[in-house]
Amino acid sequence: MPYDPHAPIVTIDGPGGSGKGTLSSLVATKLGWHLLDSGALYRIVAVSAQAQVIDLNDESPLVAMISDLQIAFTGDKVDVNGNNLSDIIRTEETGAAASKVAALPGVRDAILSLQKSFQCAPGLVADGRDMGTVVFPHSKAKIFLDASAEARADRRYKQLKNKGLSVNLRDLLEQIQERDARDRGRAVAPLKPAADALIIDSTQMTIEEVLETIMAEVARGYR
Ligand code: DC
Repeated sequence: MPYDPHAPIVTIDGPGGSGKGTLSSLVATKLGWHLLDSGALYRIVAVSAQAQVIDLNDESPLVAMISDLQIAFTGDKVDVNGNNLSDIIRTEETGAAASKVAALPGVRDAILSLQKSFQCAPGLVADGRDMGTVVFPHSKAKIFLDASAEARADRRYKQLKNKGLSVNLRDLLEQIQERDARDRGRAVAPLKPAADALIIDSTQMTIEEVLETIMAEVARGYR
């Protein structure tokens, strides 16, 4: 798909477990727009680094490694240099590792142009932490999706239980709080709402209510 600097973009930023992933994919389906899951890119960098035994805090070998990654998204499937990483990038451990590599400015820089290239007609739904603040600051529809850490831990707990995995709610809450602190506290592109973002606290909302609110914001920005 060719890059189109005029294609409309809705950015959906927020902490892990806020429902961003589910909502972004629902919005993309509803609008018939492309989807950028930017968290998947940081997850791919983390998994690839671990496979090549590169320290997650060692910026220059990580940046060199990124230039050799051939990434292909096909629906939910993710192939990197011919290897299917679809499952391994989704684990909690990979999420924590992704949050570490994401704190390095060189790593963020190295995937910036790849992220921008997802802007294609008829439009893009961009899911992440800094979509509205750094990657697509010119978007006219910015959402910051939040929920209490307890609600997010509870949702994640149910998701993992449904998959038949044994999990501990207290451990999940701790992991979520730790990842939040790192994502919000880092020096570059910290997780925060853009000044012109619509902040939605989904703690007490259903998915349908959040979806409706986001669709209304897209209509307002791109009418
Ligand atoms: O959304 P996610 O859980 O897949 O993201 C994994 C990690 O990647 C997250 O903890 C922080 C980082 N990330 C980021 O720094 N910037 C983004 N735009 C997306 C993700």
